[in-house]
Amino acid sequence: MADIIPFAFVLFSIISISYAVPRSVTIRNDLGTGLVLLFHCLSADDDLGNRFLPPGESWEFHFNTRSVGNTLFHCGFKWALADEKKFSVYDDNQHRYTCSQCVWSIQRNGTCLTSDAITASLCYPWSPGWPTPTPDGENTS
Ligand SMILES: *[C@@H]1O[C@H](CO)[C@@H](O)[C@H](O)[C@H]1NC(C)=O
Repeated sequence: MADIIPFAFVLFSIISISYAVPRSVTIRNDLGTGLVLLFHCLSADDDLGNRFLPPGESWEFHFNTRSVGNTLFHCGFKWALADEKKFSVYDDNQHRYTCSQCVWSIQRNGTCLTSDAITASLCYPWSPGWPTPTPDGENTS
């Protein structure tokens, strides 16, 4: 019996490791007309701080998700006099199968997601009180 426990621990560790999925999220400033994009991204565990992107530039961050549990990163975006727009740039519930490399193009009229796993980009126009977008276009607050 005592011999089984270390073996079970090793087996459990191997299974756990095999389920880690490396992912990345890229934010691209496609606002145009020389506008600087200010943003702040965070998850329950990580605060990625206040950042900015000059016109046309991109920034990306990397993280791992696991088969168990839920990873969620959300960001707030601001430019010029526009109200802050917040949404989930990665949520296991929405993006587990639709992106391991998620690219968000931030535009003045909305945001578009392209990824390694979808052929067309998914666009979500901003609306007043901008809710969290979901891949099927359904709105949840
Ligand atoms: C914003 O407008 C441009 C040009 O009309 C269009 O190509 C783009 O898909 C729009 N973006 C969103 C998020 O609706």
